[in-house]
Amino acid sequence: MKRGLFVTVEGTDGCGKTTQITNIVDYLSSLGCRVILTREPGGTRISENIRSIILDPAFTEMHSITELMLYSAARAQLVEQVIRPAIANCETVICDRYIDSFYAYQGYGRGLDMEMLKKITSLAINNTMPDITFFFDLVPEIGLRRRMNAANGDRIENEQMEFHRRVYHGYRQLAKENPERIKTIDASRSVDEVWEDVRRQLDMALGFVREV
Ligand code: TMP
Repeated sequence: MKRGLFVTVEGTDGCGKTTQITNIVDYLSSLGCRVILTREPGGTRISENIRSIILDPAFTEMHSITELMLYSAARAQLVEQVIRPAIANCETVICDRYIDSFYAYQGYGRGLDMEMLKKITSLAINNTMPDITFFFDLVPEIGLRRRMNAANGDRIENEQMEFHRRVYHGYRQLAKENPERIKTIDASRSVDEVWEDVRRQLDMALGFVREV
């Protein structure tokens, strides 16, 4: 049986992924793909409610284990309710953030044990791995400046710059360890140049549809 492509989009806060996600959705739709766009944390009624707790800037006392469990709970619900049914139904799923955010933010950012994160992830995602992941590579100093100009930060964006640097370093490390799946895109260039790169990678990924 054929199944749909599963694409995830990653990067530090303010890396410009939102603009490129719109391009990805428009492009794949124009090729005739049935596209489902979703996000993490969020994408279901339950997960969106969890998201509002996680990101509320008022909850400065949140413990890192609480945070880890909330992200995982939101992810488990999204995977079972949206992602798995959609890809089984040959739809293309684009997810704004997924497991690499978890490893970069909770693993490298918070310093939580990577083996523990992998075990919890395995429970949450039920073997549902992305076919391709775009990592928009932009140093957090630039990304966060863009974001802060736009609005007040959420609880994660309000973390110290040192935290965001660790997250950034984490992403680069993850990309190095998973070169087949994670495509690093230099996001410091113009929107059009970045898109050219993304489109080329997408065309290559579309060349294969997995059997299950
Ligand atoms: P965003 O959807 O606006 O990018 O906000 C989500 C925030 O949550 C962002 O700062 C990254 C963070 N995050 C984690 O810390 N761990 C995770 O597992 C996910 C999915 C996101």
